[in-house]
Parts: sequence; structure tokens; C-alpha cells
Amino acid sequence: MMQRFLRTKPIAARSTDSELRRVLGPMDLTLLGVGAIIGTGIFVLTGLAAAKYAGPAIVLSFIVAGLGCIFAGLCYAEFAAMVPVSGSAYAYSYATLGEFVAWFVGWNLILEYLFAAATVSVGWSRYFVKLLDFFGINFMPEALTSAPLGVAEDGVTFIATGALINLPAVLIASIITAICYVGITQSSRVNAIVVAIKVTIVVMVIGFGFFYVNPDNWTPFIPENTGKFGEYGVSGILRASGIIFFAYIGFDAVSTAAQEARNPERDMPIGILGSLVLCTILYILMCGVLTGLVPFPDLNDAAPVAVALQAHAGLNWLVPWIIVGALAGLTSVILVMILGQARIFLTMAQDGLIPQAFASVHPKFKTPGVATLVTGVSAALIGGVFPIGILGELVSIGTLIAFITVCIGVLVLRHTQPNLKRPFHVPYVWFTSLSGVG
Ligand code: ALA
Repeated sequence: MMQRFLRTKPIAARSTDSELRRVLGPMDLTLLGVGAIIGTGIFVLTGLAAAKYAGPAIVLSFIVAGLGCIFAGLCYAEFAAMVPVSGSAYAYSYATLGEFVAWFVGWNLILEYLFAAATVSVGWSRYFVKLLDFFGINFMPEALTSAPLGVAEDGVTFIATGALINLPAVLIASIITAICYVGITQSSRVNAIVVAIKVTIVVMVIGFGFFYVNPDNWTPFIPENTGKFGEYGVSGILRASGIIFFAYIGFDAVSTAAQEARNPERDMPIGILGSLVLCTILYILMCGVLTGLVPFPDLNDAAPVAVALQAHAGLNWLVPWIIVGALAGLTSVILVMILGQARIFLTMAQDGLIPQAFASVHPKFKTPGVATLVTGVSAALIGGVFPIGILGELVSIGTLIAFITVCIGVLVLRHTQPNLKRPFHVPYVWFTSLSGVG
């Protein structure tokens, strides 16, 4: 029994041939990464983390979290170039840490991707209602736009909220599932359009906002700790970096597209690291501008970017664009998460760890058809019924576990199979992988 738990599936035993279409180039992969990364995190969590924990030093929190993710990203890049299969952290841990760890990581990835798709659908629904409100359209009763289940004050029991279903969340998850089902090229194109919209809006906020920054708002840059751990000061920076970690989640999903990349050995590292570096730069600039526009306590709002812009008459025109940017951001996150989850299911089914039906590839569309449908329907149902807070926590836990196993896996494989062909090498592997774990 124990032997079975520890049994590994060597890299060489994995076929990289598949019926999936190899059509993605380096740009498509980078855009998939940006699609997955920029979402609720930058539009919502930044304000909260700055106002409550870090103040203007939220910029440093983003650097800390970004560095941690870049270390993990380097480890993902080594694996994804060397084992270009769809299973991501699941397949890498099967190759290094054994079947049991792989199975565990596989289920954690479900927490990450499936629950991220559901969480972000709930966020999408909120912004959608906001956009309708902005245009004075108000035809959807609250019972159809919020979760029927809430969490009681004890934090563990579910209670009925009186709502029926979060219909916009169900609809967006269903539409995106349909796109993922009909083809990777179509999915990649939709993603590219949506990413172009959201990145343009983020750049507009940074560019126009820059002229209204009041440097006084950056002083003190690191507000004095209140005496409680995590409330400003250095501990506040670290606490905030834990929260905004969510904003970086998603770059790893690029690795699930390895079997659809034309030249994975070269392009996987470009996609993973390129998207991560680009988003880190955008995030740091965005935080600097937001905390420069208003005193940081004002950012304690569910829509902090809008609050910062509304404080300046000359920036008011950007506020509706924020809603559009957030909607676009969330759309591509859902898309990449559903794509990623379906491919994890596909690889787990090929290994016999979940039913064989999940391993089937659609004869015409060349996508993991059953896995995509099950992922999409589950995301729609979960997003339609559960509240956002509890979903978000599961996503961060699942992601952290996947990152840690990938970082450890890189070290293990360097030791057990030092001579494998590695198209991309993690530099300073001990330092990088252990920093990624940390
Ligand atoms: N990084 C993604 C977001 O912030 C999950 O929404």
C-alpha cells in the first residue's frame, strides 16, 4: 500500500502527444497568464489591504508577494518546459513526490481553479449589477443576483439568505464554458480581446491618475504599527502581502496549456514568467497611484479604485471604465481557470485517478469536452449558490499547496534525475525553490 502511495510516474513515461490542438504561441500564452492574473485582486483587495494593514507600503507588500510568486513561477517554468503536459502541478508532483501527493495536489488544484472560477463569477455578478445600475437599468431583483446561502456569525454554519440564485454568476460561467468547449483557438482569441480591454483600463488609471497624485499621501510611507501584529509597520506589510497573494494567482494556469503550445520548451517559461513580471509591474504602479490619490484609510471600500478616482473631479470620467475593466478582468480569469481545470481533470483521468470519461477529447473541437462541461457546470452551480468570502479562502489554500509542492518537486527532481534534459533551468535552484516555499 505504502509503495503505491510513493509510486511515481516518471517524466519519460508521460506522452506529450495528444489529440489537443498545438496552436498557442508565446504571445497567446503570456496573454493567458495576464488573463488569469489581473482580476478581483487589483480592483478590490488592494484598497482593503492598504487601508487596514499596510498603508502606502502596500507597494512593498506587492513586491514581497510578487517576488514569492516569481520564485514559484521559475519552478513552474522549469517543469512546464521539461514536462509539457496539461497536468501542471499535479503531473509534476506525480513525477517527483509520488501518487498520493499527486492525488492530494490534484484535489487542491480543483480548490484553486474550480473555486476561483466560481468565486470570480460571483465578483463578476456584482460588477455586472453595478454596470446595469450605472445605466439606470434595474430589472433584476436582488433574489436573483445574490447567493441563497450565507455564513452565520459563528463563521461555520450556512444560513439561508432568502435569495434564490446568483443568476449573472451562473450565466457568465455557462457562456465561458461554451467558449472553452468549442476550441482553444477561440478561447485564446476571446482572452486576448478581454485582456487588451482590461490592461488598457489599468494603464489609463495609472497614466491619468499619476497627474493627480499628492505625494503627501505617501507620508508616512510605512505607518507606525498600532501595537497589534499586522496593523501597519513591517508586520502589516507582510500581512497585506498574504492577502494580496490572491491577486497573483493564475500565472500557474499557463502551464496547463503546455500540450496546446506549439513550442512548449521555449514558450512555457516566456508565458509564465512574462505574464507574472508584466502584472507585477502594473500592480506596483497601480498601488503607488491609488495610495497617492487619497489618504490610505479612504481606500477601505469594496470599490477602492473608484473611490480614489472619485476624489478628483478630473478623474471622474474614468469611474465607469473601472467597472468595464473589472468585468473584463474577471471574465478572462474565469476563462483561464475553466480551461486549466478541465486540463487537470483530463490528466488525472488519463492516470486513472478519476473516471475515464474525463479523459475524452472532443472529436471535432479537440478540447477536453466532458472535463470542460463538468468544470463549467460545477463552477456555475457553486458560484450561483455560495457566498464569495468562503470561496476565496479555499482558492488561496489550494494554490499555496500547489506552489509549495512544485517548488519542492524541482529540488527533488534535480536530485533524483540530475541528467534529464531541462530546456529551462531555475537559477540558484536551492535558494529559488526554498524562497518559493517560504
Ligand atoms: N488573480 C486573480 C484575481 O485577482 C485570481 O482575480
